[in-house]
Amino acid sequence: MFTHHLMNGISHKVISNVKQQNVVGIFMTRKCVLSVSAVSNHRCRHTHSGFTSNQLLSYTPPDWAKHLKMSPSVQVQLFQPFTPIQKWNLPGVPSDIEVCIKRDDMTGCALSGNKIRKLEFLLAEALSNDCKAVITCGGVQSNHCRTTAVAARQLGLETHLLLRSRIKDPCELGSNGNMLLNRLMGASMYLVPIKAQEKTDLIPRMQQLTNKLKKSKGIKAYSIPIGGSNVTGLHGYLNGWQELLDQGVINRFDDIVLTVGSGGTAAGISIGNYLTGSHLRIHAFAVCDTAAYFHSHINETLDSIGIDTVRSEGIINIHEGAKGLGYGISKPEELEFIKTVAKESSILLDPTYTGKAALALTKELMRDRSKFKGRRILFLHSGGIFGMFDGQLGDTLTQSSGADPLVQNWMNPDGEPTIY
Ligand SMILES: Cc1ncc(COP(=O)(O)O)c(C=O)c1O
Repeated sequence: MFTHHLMNGISHKVISNVKQQNVVGIFMTRKCVLSVSAVSNHRCRHTHSGFTSNQLLSYTPPDWAKHLKMSPSVQVQLFQPFTPIQKWNLPGVPSDIEVCIKRDDMTGCALSGNKIRKLEFLLAEALSNDCKAVITCGGVQSNHCRTTAVAARQLGLETHLLLRSRIKDPCELGSNGNMLLNRLMGASMYLVPIKAQEKTDLIPRMQQLTNKLKKSKGIKAYSIPIGGSNVTGLHGYLNGWQELLDQGVINRFDDIVLTVGSGGTAAGISIGNYLTGSHLRIHAFAVCDTAAYFHSHINETLDSIGIDTVRSEGIINIHEGAKGLGYGISKPEELEFIKTVAKESSILLDPTYTGKAALALTKELMRDRSKFKGRRILFLHSGGIFGMFDGQLGDTLTQSSGADPLVQNWMNPDGEPTIY
């Protein structure tokens, strides 16, 4: 179905209704699309209605990205953009440094975090190719897998997740953190070896699943790489960069800090900054792999989209100090830091990504200030809240041996509580 909505002279093409909506659903969708057109910038995005839509929309990149090769042509709207930027009292930062936080942990509830920006393009591509299933991969506590399961369910697609796991027996896996949401969404999950490499192991397995789904159910499946970090997903954070421009970051900040796990967010932000004049310095704190690995990922992306005027090494600093004991493994110091940050600033950091990156940022600011362009830093909070509920952090909070100053026994009305 092709329809055009015209308002205030701006045309917005709705390619199809993804799912047949009930009456309320159609009203919400129309309201959303009309309000989108009324306040449209290049991406025809609504800012006021608060409704997201299940419609497949045509997509044009921001003006400064229009010449890029392999740009997607469709998009779905799955989250509320213009997440807030606010001051952040990040403990451990030298007093002459001002830190603010971009709240991409507020892109939604079950859909919170950076992955939903990429999935707006990836899932749109799945729908426009008539796929009825989505396959992707990650760790057991992968935020990307959880966000895919939730968003795909919203769009009426079934989800198949390949989860790298130390545990082989599904009965022992439990329902902590992101796993709870995967289960609630009814995602089909397959435990694969923790060391399974993407190119040599996961991609062939995804192909095998695709063939099986075709043969046994007669449906087409769409595969998404780890973290959604390919040239389609890239547009999530090219648009994220446009959003930051619209929020005035060029005049307000010197440096942007983010976490890198599969490379897509770092690629989008650093390429966006480069294409619009490189006014800020971009820093990515790696929680796995090496700086060389991520530079190579971003360089491959630059090649694919046809940029040959710069290399990754010239547009982003990749810091290696955040990895700690390894991907997904927390040190007591990191969990303590998450506790302190929550208590002093009310910001919730996750143990796998943002907690490690924020801690490493405070250390780097003490160690080598020269890597930063100035004193005004914007930290991109990329989400991961459900990782807080994977068990590790809860255990450290309740494991204290002496009296717990936070929780006391006052069952006996004649007793008296201690004031700490
Ligand atoms: C909460 C969170 N922050 C940061 C990242 C890293 O983003 P990217 O995979 O785009 O490098 C991820 C995903 O891997 C994540 O889940």
